[in-house]
Amino acid sequence: MTVEQTSIPTAWRRPLLAFLFLGLLSLYLSYTFNSCLVSSLIRRTTPMIPHQSPYISKGVRVVPLFTNVSETKYRSVRQRGARRLPTALIIGIKKAGTRALLEFLRIHPDIRAAGCEVHFFDRYYDQGLEWYRKKMPPTVLGQITMEKTPAYWVSKDAPARIAKMNPGTKLLVVVRDPVTRALSDYAQASSKRPGMPSFEQLAFLNGTNGGIVDTRWGPVRLGVYARYLLRWLKYFSLSQMLFISGERLVVDPAAEVGRVQDFLGLKRLVTEKHFYFNTTKGFPCLFKSETKSSPHCLGKTKGRSHPRVPVSALIRLREFYRPFNQHFYQLTGINFGWP
Ligand code: A3P
Repeated sequence: MTVEQTSIPTAWRRPLLAFLFLGLLSLYLSYTFNSCLVSSLIRRTTPMIPHQSPYISKGVRVVPLFTNVSETKYRSVRQRGARRLPTALIIGIKKAGTRALLEFLRIHPDIRAAGCEVHFFDRYYDQGLEWYRKKMPPTVLGQITMEKTPAYWVSKDAPARIAKMNPGTKLLVVVRDPVTRALSDYAQASSKRPGMPSFEQLAFLNGTNGGIVDTRWGPVRLGVYARYLLRWLKYFSLSQMLFISGERLVVDPAAEVGRVQDFLGLKRLVTEKHFYFNTTKGFPCLFKSETKSSPHCLGKTKGRSHPRVPVSALIRLREFYRPFNQHFYQLTGINFGWP
Protein backbone atom coordinates (compact mmCIF):
# COMPACT_ATOMS: atom_id res chain seq x y z
CA MET A 1 0.00 0.00 0.00
CA THR A 2 1.43 3.40 -1.02
CA VAL A 3 1.08 6.64 0.97
CA GLU A 4 -1.51 7.78 -1.54
CA GLN A 5 -3.63 4.68 -0.82
CA THR A 6 -3.86 5.30 2.98
CA SER A 7 -6.99 6.82 4.48
CA ILE A 8 -5.09 9.78 6.05
CA PRO A 9 -6.17 13.01 4.37
CA THR A 10 -3.38 14.59 2.30
CA ALA A 11 -3.49 17.84 4.27
CA TRP A 12 -2.71 15.94 7.52
CA ARG A 13 0.18 13.89 6.25
CA ARG A 14 2.94 16.50 6.57
CA PRO A 15 2.01 17.71 10.10
CA LEU A 16 1.62 14.08 11.19
CA LEU A 17 5.09 13.11 9.91
CA ALA A 18 6.60 16.20 11.54
CA PHE A 19 4.87 15.32 14.81
CA LEU A 20 6.15 11.76 14.70
CA PHE A 21 9.67 12.97 13.95
CA LEU A 22 9.60 15.50 16.82
CA GLY A 23 8.21 12.85 19.17
CA LEU A 24 11.01 10.43 18.37
CA LEU A 25 13.62 13.19 18.71
CA SER A 26 12.36 14.27 22.13
CA LEU A 27 12.29 10.64 23.31
CA TYR A 28 15.90 10.22 22.22
CA LEU A 29 17.03 13.50 23.83
CA SER A 30 15.31 12.82 27.12
CA TYR A 31 16.91 9.34 27.29
CA THR A 32 20.37 10.73 26.59
CA PHE A 33 19.99 13.59 29.02
CA ASN A 34 18.65 11.40 31.82
CA SER A 35 21.30 8.73 31.49
CA CYS A 36 24.06 11.40 31.68
CA LEU A 37 22.29 13.02 34.57
CA VAL A 38 21.86 9.75 36.42
CA SER A 39 25.44 8.66 35.91
CA SER A 40 26.81 12.03 36.94
CA LEU A 41 24.60 12.01 40.02
CA ILE A 42 25.80 8.53 40.93
CA ARG A 43 29.39 9.61 40.38
CA ARG A 44 28.90 12.58 42.67
CA THR A 45 27.42 10.52 45.46
CA THR A 46 29.78 7.51 45.20
CA PRO A 47 31.42 7.02 48.60
CA MET A 48 35.22 6.80 48.63
CA ILE A 49 35.29 3.50 50.46
CA PRO A 50 37.11 0.87 48.41
CA HIS A 51 35.04 -2.11 47.28
CA GLN A 52 31.79 -0.91 48.78
CA SER A 53 30.33 1.04 45.94
CA PRO A 54 26.69 0.50 45.04
CA TYR A 55 27.88 1.37 41.58
CA ILE A 56 29.00 -2.11 40.69
CA SER A 57 26.36 -3.32 38.34
CA LYS A 58 25.17 -6.89 38.37
CA GLY A 59 24.80 -6.55 34.64
CA VAL A 60 28.53 -6.19 33.87
CA ARG A 61 29.44 -8.75 31.24
CA VAL A 62 32.83 -10.43 31.41
CA VAL A 63 34.97 -12.16 28.80
CA PRO A 64 38.37 -13.90 29.04
CA LEU A 65 41.28 -11.45 28.87
CA PHE A 66 43.61 -13.89 27.13
CA THR A 67 41.89 -16.14 24.69
CA ASN A 68 44.95 -18.41 24.35
CA VAL A 69 45.53 -18.84 28.05
CA SER A 70 43.65 -21.47 29.99
CA GLU A 71 43.22 -19.79 33.39
CA THR A 72 39.97 -18.00 34.09
CA LYS A 73 40.85 -14.35 33.66
CA TYR A 74 38.05 -11.93 33.33
CA ARG A 75 37.64 -8.26 32.88
CA SER A 76 34.73 -6.00 32.32
CA VAL A 77 33.84 -5.52 28.69
CA ARG A 78 32.23 -2.17 29.21
CA GLN A 79 34.71 -1.08 31.91
CA ARG A 80 31.81 -0.12 34.11
CA GLY A 81 32.59 0.38 37.75
CA ALA A 82 33.62 3.07 40.16
CA ARG A 83 36.72 5.18 40.33
CA ARG A 84 38.32 4.48 43.69
CA LEU A 85 41.31 5.72 45.59
CA PRO A 86 44.32 3.44 45.12
CA THR A 87 45.03 0.79 47.72
CA ALA A 88 48.51 0.04 46.38
CA LEU A 89 51.15 2.48 45.14
CA ILE A 90 54.47 2.20 43.36
CA ILE A 91 56.25 4.96 45.27
CA GLY A 92 59.71 4.62 43.69
CA ILE A 93 62.51 4.55 43.05
CA LYS A 94 63.06 6.70 39.99
CA LYS A 95 65.09 4.90 37.27
CA ALA A 96 64.98 1.57 39.09
CA GLY A 97 62.41 -0.08 36.79
CA THR A 98 59.14 1.39 38.02
CA ARG A 99 57.55 1.63 34.55
CA ALA A 100 58.45 -1.96 33.73
CA LEU A 101 56.88 -3.15 36.98
CA LEU A 102 53.67 -1.22 36.37
CA GLU A 103 53.35 -2.42 32.78
CA PHE A 104 53.87 -6.02 33.87
CA LEU A 105 51.33 -5.73 36.68
CA ARG A 106 48.74 -4.17 34.43
CA ILE A 107 48.40 -7.44 32.57
CA HIS A 108 46.73 -8.83 35.66
CA PRO A 109 42.95 -8.65 35.27
CA ASP A 110 42.54 -7.67 38.92
CA ILE A 111 44.84 -4.68 38.71
CA ARG A 112 43.80 -1.41 37.18
CA ALA A 113 46.26 1.45 37.20
CA ALA A 114 46.40 5.09 36.23
CA GLY A 115 48.44 5.25 33.03
CA CYS A 116 50.51 8.30 33.85
CA GLU A 117 52.19 9.52 37.00
CA VAL A 118 49.59 11.47 38.95
CA HIS A 119 51.95 13.26 41.41
CA PHE A 120 49.10 13.82 43.83
CA PHE A 121 50.98 13.43 47.12
CA ASP A 122 53.93 15.56 46.07
CA ARG A 123 52.55 18.21 43.67
CA TYR A 124 48.79 18.29 43.52
CA TYR A 125 47.76 17.57 47.09
CA ASP A 126 45.85 20.84 47.30
CA GLN A 127 43.48 19.54 44.64
CA GLY A 128 41.98 17.18 47.19
CA LEU A 129 41.23 13.47 47.36
CA GLU A 130 38.20 13.77 45.11
CA TRP A 131 40.42 15.12 42.32
CA TYR A 132 42.82 12.23 42.90
CA ARG A 133 40.03 9.64 42.85
CA LYS A 134 38.83 10.94 39.49
CA LYS A 135 42.28 10.33 38.02
CA MET A 136 41.92 6.63 38.72
CA PRO A 137 40.51 4.12 36.24
CA PRO A 138 37.14 2.55 37.03
CA THR A 139 37.32 -0.76 38.84
CA VAL A 140 34.81 -3.46 39.58
CA LEU A 141 34.60 -5.43 42.80
CA GLY A 142 37.78 -7.33 43.57
CA GLN A 143 40.06 -5.23 41.37
CA ILE A 144 42.92 -3.29 42.90
CA THR A 145 43.45 0.35 41.97
CA MET A 146 47.08 1.33 41.59
CA GLU A 147 49.16 4.33 40.75
CA LYS A 148 52.88 4.91 40.28
CA THR A 149 54.69 8.14 40.98
CA PRO A 150 58.37 7.51 41.82
CA ALA A 151 58.73 11.07 43.11
CA TYR A 152 56.75 10.04 46.22
CA TRP A 153 59.82 8.17 47.48
CA VAL A 154 61.77 11.41 48.01
CA SER A 155 58.85 13.64 48.94
CA LYS A 156 58.94 14.75 52.59
CA ASP A 157 55.17 15.07 52.71
CA ALA A 158 54.11 11.95 50.82
CA PRO A 159 54.44 9.37 53.65
CA ALA A 160 52.17 11.27 56.07
CA ARG A 161 49.70 12.16 53.34
CA ILE A 162 49.41 8.61 52.05
CA ALA A 163 49.00 7.30 55.60
CA LYS A 164 46.26 9.88 56.16
CA MET A 165 44.42 8.72 53.03
CA ASN A 166 44.67 5.08 54.08
CA PRO A 167 47.13 3.78 56.68
CA GLY A 168 46.73 0.30 55.18
CA THR A 169 48.04 1.32 51.73
CA LYS A 170 50.44 -1.22 50.24
CA LEU A 171 53.67 0.30 49.04
CA LEU A 172 55.82 -1.11 46.26
CA VAL A 173 59.41 0.07 46.00
CA VAL A 174 61.62 -0.91 43.08
CA VAL A 175 65.29 -0.58 44.03
CA ARG A 176 68.46 -0.79 41.96
CA ASP A 177 72.20 -0.55 42.57
CA PRO A 178 72.51 3.17 43.39
CA VAL A 179 75.51 3.59 41.09
CA THR A 180 73.72 2.30 37.97
CA ARG A 181 70.63 4.17 39.07
CA ALA A 182 72.64 7.42 39.19
CA LEU A 183 74.04 6.72 35.70
CA SER A 184 70.53 6.07 34.45
CA ASP A 185 69.27 9.28 36.05
CA TYR A 186 72.10 11.22 34.42
CA ALA A 187 71.41 9.58 31.02
CA GLN A 188 67.81 10.71 31.26
CA ALA A 189 68.69 14.27 32.31
CA SER A 190 71.40 14.71 29.66
CA SER A 191 69.07 13.43 26.93
CA LYS A 192 66.79 16.36 27.76
CA ARG A 193 69.60 18.90 28.28
CA PRO A 194 72.32 18.64 25.65
CA GLY A 195 75.64 20.16 26.73
CA MET A 196 75.29 19.09 30.35
CA PRO A 197 78.60 18.74 32.26
CA SER A 198 79.97 15.20 32.42
CA PHE A 199 78.77 12.70 35.02
CA GLU A 200 82.07 12.93 36.92
CA GLN A 201 81.95 16.70 36.99
CA LEU A 202 78.58 16.55 38.67
CA ALA A 203 79.10 13.54 40.92
CA PHE A 204 82.33 14.72 42.53
CA LEU A 205 83.32 17.99 44.16
CA ASN A 206 85.74 19.77 41.81
CA GLY A 207 84.85 17.17 39.19
CA THR A 208 87.61 14.81 40.27
CA ASN A 209 87.04 11.07 39.93
CA GLY A 210 88.72 10.02 43.14
CA GLY A 211 87.53 13.04 45.10
CA ILE A 212 84.70 13.74 47.44
CA VAL A 213 81.28 12.59 46.31
CA ASP A 214 78.91 15.50 45.90
CA THR A 215 75.86 14.48 47.85
CA ARG A 216 74.12 17.72 46.97
CA TRP A 217 73.66 16.44 43.42
CA GLY A 218 70.22 14.82 43.16
CA PRO A 219 71.18 11.62 41.28
CA VAL A 220 73.81 10.86 43.95
CA ARG A 221 71.71 11.87 46.95
CA LEU A 222 68.76 9.78 45.82
CA GLY A 223 70.88 6.62 46.03
CA VAL A 224 71.16 6.89 49.82
CA TYR A 225 68.05 4.76 50.12
CA ALA A 226 68.19 4.21 53.89
CA ARG A 227 67.72 7.91 54.54
CA TYR A 228 64.41 7.98 52.66
CA LEU A 229 63.21 4.65 53.99
CA LEU A 230 63.48 5.93 57.57
CA ARG A 231 60.93 8.61 56.71
CA TRP A 232 58.48 6.04 55.39
CA LEU A 233 58.95 3.80 58.41
CA LYS A 234 57.57 6.57 60.62
CA TYR A 235 54.17 5.99 59.01
CA PHE A 236 54.21 2.47 57.58
CA SER A 237 55.38 -0.88 58.86
CA LEU A 238 57.80 -2.98 56.84
CA SER A 239 55.07 -5.56 56.33
CA GLN A 240 53.19 -2.99 54.23
CA MET A 241 56.15 -2.44 51.95
CA LEU A 242 57.49 -4.70 49.26
CA PHE A 243 60.95 -4.13 47.85
CA ILE A 244 61.43 -5.30 44.29
CA SER A 245 64.89 -5.83 42.90
CA GLY A 246 65.32 -3.80 39.72
CA GLU A 247 68.12 -6.18 38.69
CA ARG A 248 65.95 -9.29 39.09
CA LEU A 249 63.09 -7.56 37.31
CA VAL A 250 65.30 -7.65 34.20
CA VAL A 251 66.75 -11.14 34.69
CA ASP A 252 63.61 -12.91 35.91
CA PRO A 253 60.56 -10.63 35.61
CA ALA A 254 58.05 -13.42 36.24
CA ALA A 255 59.59 -14.24 39.63
CA GLU A 256 59.57 -10.62 40.79
CA VAL A 257 56.05 -10.01 39.52
CA GLY A 258 55.06 -13.27 41.21
CA ARG A 259 56.18 -11.86 44.58
CA VAL A 260 54.18 -8.72 43.95
CA GLN A 261 51.04 -10.69 43.14
CA ASP A 262 51.45 -12.65 46.39
CA PHE A 263 51.96 -9.43 48.33
CA LEU A 264 48.81 -7.94 46.85
CA GLY A 265 46.85 -11.08 47.66
CA LEU A 266 46.25 -11.88 44.00
CA LYS A 267 46.39 -15.12 42.11
CA ARG A 268 49.65 -15.50 40.18
CA LEU A 269 48.23 -14.91 36.72
CA VAL A 270 51.19 -13.00 35.28
CA THR A 271 53.78 -15.70 34.67
CA GLU A 272 56.76 -16.65 32.46
CA LYS A 273 54.48 -17.15 29.51
CA HIS A 274 53.79 -13.43 29.30
CA PHE A 275 57.46 -12.53 28.77
CA TYR A 276 60.14 -13.03 26.16
CA PHE A 277 63.65 -11.65 26.03
CA ASN A 278 64.16 -9.21 23.18
CA THR A 279 67.85 -9.38 22.21
CA THR A 280 67.72 -6.11 20.26
CA LYS A 281 66.26 -4.22 23.20
CA GLY A 282 68.31 -6.20 25.71
CA PHE A 283 65.34 -6.44 28.05
CA PRO A 284 62.37 -8.65 28.73
CA CYS A 285 59.33 -7.62 26.71
CA LEU A 286 55.68 -8.60 26.72
CA PHE A 287 53.79 -10.85 24.35
CA LYS A 288 50.74 -8.73 25.03
CA SER A 289 49.79 -6.10 27.53
CA GLU A 290 46.75 -4.24 28.77
CA THR A 291 46.80 -1.94 25.77
CA LYS A 292 48.48 -3.94 22.97
CA SER A 293 47.74 -7.45 21.81
CA SER A 294 51.02 -7.90 19.92
CA PRO A 295 54.54 -8.49 21.30
CA HIS A 296 56.16 -5.27 22.38
CA CYS A 297 58.82 -3.71 24.57
CA LEU A 298 58.93 -0.60 26.73
CA GLY A 299 59.64 2.62 24.83
CA LYS A 300 62.95 4.19 23.88
CA THR A 301 63.25 6.10 27.15
CA LYS A 302 63.59 2.81 29.01
CA GLY A 303 66.89 1.04 28.45
CA ARG A 304 69.00 4.01 27.37
CA SER A 305 72.76 3.69 27.00
CA HIS A 306 74.63 5.02 30.00
CA PRO A 307 77.52 7.50 29.91
CA ARG A 308 81.06 6.15 29.80
CA VAL A 309 82.56 6.91 33.17
CA PRO A 310 86.15 6.18 34.29
CA VAL A 311 86.39 2.99 36.36
CA SER A 312 88.06 4.94 39.18
CA ALA A 313 84.94 7.10 39.48
CA LEU A 314 82.69 4.04 39.68
CA ILE A 315 84.93 2.46 42.33
CA ARG A 316 84.83 5.64 44.37
CA LEU A 317 81.05 5.82 44.13
CA ARG A 318 80.68 2.18 45.16
CA GLU A 319 82.84 2.83 48.23
CA PHE A 320 80.68 5.80 49.06
CA TYR A 321 77.43 3.86 48.87
CA ARG A 322 78.62 0.66 50.63
CA PRO A 323 77.78 1.72 54.23
CA PHE A 324 74.46 3.22 53.16
CA ASN A 325 73.58 0.05 51.26
CA GLN A 326 74.43 -2.02 54.34
CA HIS A 327 72.13 0.17 56.40
CA PHE A 328 69.39 -0.28 53.81
CA TYR A 329 69.86 -4.08 53.87
CA GLN A 330 69.57 -4.01 57.66
CA LEU A 331 66.40 -1.94 57.61
CA THR A 332 64.69 -4.05 54.94
CA GLY A 333 66.15 -7.40 56.01
CA ILE A 334 67.13 -8.02 52.36
CA ASN A 335 70.62 -8.17 50.91
CA PHE A 336 70.30 -6.88 47.36
CA GLY A 337 73.90 -7.85 46.60
CA TRP A 338 74.99 -4.56 45.09
CA PRO A 339 78.76 -4.47 44.49
P1 A3P B 1 67.90 2.48 31.89
O1 A3P B 1 67.17 3.32 30.89
O2 A3P B 1 68.96 3.19 32.59
O3 A3P B 1 68.37 1.17 31.33
P2 A3P B 1 62.02 3.73 35.48
O4 A3P B 1 60.90 3.14 34.73
O5 A3P B 1 61.83 3.65 36.97
O6 A3P B 1 62.37 5.11 35.00
O7 A3P B 1 63.29 2.84 35.22
C1 A3P B 1 63.92 2.77 33.99
C2 A3P B 1 64.79 1.56 33.98
O8 A3P B 1 63.97 0.38 33.94
C3 A3P B 1 65.66 1.42 32.77
O9 A3P B 1 66.84 2.12 33.05
C4 A3P B 1 65.87 -0.08 32.65
O10 A3P B 1 67.14 -0.50 33.04
C5 A3P B 1 64.85 -0.66 33.63
N1 A3P B 1 64.07 -1.78 33.12
C6 A3P B 1 63.70 -2.84 33.86
N2 A3P B 1 63.01 -3.71 33.11
C7 A3P B 1 62.92 -3.17 31.88
C8 A3P B 1 62.32 -3.61 30.68
N3 A3P B 1 61.67 -4.77 30.61
N4 A3P B 1 62.42 -2.83 29.59
C9 A3P B 1 63.10 -1.64 29.66
N5 A3P B 1 63.67 -1.18 30.77
C10 A3P B 1 63.59 -1.93 31.88
